[in-house]
Amino acid sequence: MCGIVGYIGPRTAGSMLIEGLKRLEYRGYDSAGVAMMDDNGGGLQTRKAKGKIAMLENALVASPLDGNVGIAHTRWATHGQPNECNAHPHTDCKGEIALVHNGIIENYSALRKKLQSEGHTFVSETDTEVLAHLIEAVYDDTLEDAVMDALRLVEGTYGIAVVSSKDPNKIVAARKGSPLLIGLGDGEYFVASDVAAILQHTRQVVYLDDGEMAVLTRDGYHVNDLNAVRIKKGVSRIDWDLDQIEKGGFDHFMLKEIFEQPQTIENTMRGRLVESEGFSKLGGLNLSKEELQHIDRVIITACGTSWHSALIGAMMIEEHARIPVSVEYASEFRYRNPIVTERTLCIVISQSGETADTLAAMREAKRRGAKTLGLVNVVGSTIAREDDGGIYLHAGPEIGVASTKAFTSQVVALALLTLKLGRLRDMSVVKGREVAQAMMKLPEQVQEILDRASEIEKIADEFDHATNFLYLGRGFNFPVALEGALKLKEISYIHAEGYPAAEMKHGPIALIDESMPVVFIAPHDSVFDKVVSNVQEVKARGGRVIAILSEEEPSLEGKVDFEFRIPKTIDMLYPVLAAIPLQLLAYYIANKRGLNVDQPRNLAKSVTVE
Ligand code: G6P
Repeated sequence: MCGIVGYIGPRTAGSMLIEGLKRLEYRGYDSAGVAMMDDNGGGLQTRKAKGKIAMLENALVASPLDGNVGIAHTRWATHGQPNECNAHPHTDCKGEIALVHNGIIENYSALRKKLQSEGHTFVSETDTEVLAHLIEAVYDDTLEDAVMDALRLVEGTYGIAVVSSKDPNKIVAARKGSPLLIGLGDGEYFVASDVAAILQHTRQVVYLDDGEMAVLTRDGYHVNDLNAVRIKKGVSRIDWDLDQIEKGGFDHFMLKEIFEQPQTIENTMRGRLVESEGFSKLGGLNLSKEELQHIDRVIITACGTSWHSALIGAMMIEEHARIPVSVEYASEFRYRNPIVTERTLCIVISQSGETADTLAAMREAKRRGAKTLGLVNVVGSTIAREDDGGIYLHAGPEIGVASTKAFTSQVVALALLTLKLGRLRDMSVVKGREVAQAMMKLPEQVQEILDRASEIEKIADEFDHATNFLYLGRGFNFPVALEGALKLKEISYIHAEGYPAAEMKHGPIALIDESMPVVFIAPHDSVFDKVVSNVQEVKARGGRVIAILSEEEPSLEGKVDFEFRIPKTIDMLYPVLAAIPLQLLAYYIANKRGLNVDQPRNLAKSVTVE
């Protein structure tokens, strides 16, 4: 989704801004632009381009900019086509104010009409352009005063960075509903929507909260609210390393992240699992033992891949902690009239911690009196800062748009939570130990699967021309079927559906013929025999079957076309192991089709608009 980076300091801004934008590429975008105060007397100048950042670099080669104050943006179109004109930065009538914006200005249409009637000329179709004209209209003294006055007239969400030739040694940034942070360098300052954009230069950051504005000059920065009242902000230190946001020898971030999973799963569990006692220590829950026992209902809300891990978590919690759980798409939850009481625990799952619908669902649950618990990967993200308690995933930065390592860490975090809730209720120490011991084995078992990635690559060779795929699983592996199908469609653009295996008879079976590959997730769990019957139903209709089996099962040779074995674990943890071959299958198929695996078309890493 849209990205912002800005720089003020002694160095040349141009290359740093471009490099910052490249670090944000993973979020998904369709055009890019930069505005700089030109040191050679050119005043405020912008360059924009449709398409990749390389196109913007070409525009800068053709028409260079020189200066050390600037802002830049990657745009993911909401209002108006992805083209050069609609790309940010947007400027006012005189080209004296330039602005980049993430979010949506909801009352832009009324504001635009009013500004047009006052003589302002608009050149783009975007909602953002009204902000530049609005700032121009109210400009009186300083840039920050004008930004404050303008923002008071605005409805909607924004993360903005603004520069002006009328107040040239300054960047003004403001936030409402769209993440923004300030980077503190050595005599230089940054603004960014994502820490990845500036990690190369500093690890000291100040997160802006909604309703806050920051003024960055060459000598320092300050933060205030929209009434100009100063706010004292804490400085946070980012502990991600630069190599975590680089490919490290892999062809794609996605592949690197798939291969990181033994480590990331270990990191999610580190210091939290007490194997001998069969329970978990989760320091960030902020809920007392009594409060945890008081919970009589759990709602898990999330979007995309995180919603799939929510389905798995619900089964774990119901089975082992015996608390009723419902799973809600965050986008639906917020517009329903859900039953929430002060005994409800609302678990919010989000890799990024910034997904707009998930954040809104969490706020709604809170408003209705629930306690909220965030399972979030990005430290310092909005959900992580607003939830009542949380479990950080510690999976490190996930750059590939298709989520992989965050998914397995989410499932592991949910297993930790299940132990916690279960052991406070019915779960025996023996059962707790069994779960904990199985969890301890996961990193090694995932490694074992990854060591055989070439087997999956061979299977992928057979299917890169497929146009449809069906993924089937039962019990804990039904959500894995959904996730396998989602991975494939996200990055290979092959139509894929996930279904509970037995439900196939009620519709998808009509689609099965020799051109329809069907992936069965059929480890040796309590429903294995039933799944084998479903396999036979597919084979009887000529379908081609890829089976994910566990190592202790007899071979289904003759019944299936391809088998891939995963190590033995307990039922609730099979999703962690079964997801790995499906991630690899999607990756290899997409790669063979020559697609941009890390930045699939139309998708965004973090969806910060509704
Ligand atoms: C986008 C991403 C998905 C992700 C979903 C939820 O659609 O492309 O990979 O699963 O958002 O994101 P979150 O950060 O809230 O987990």
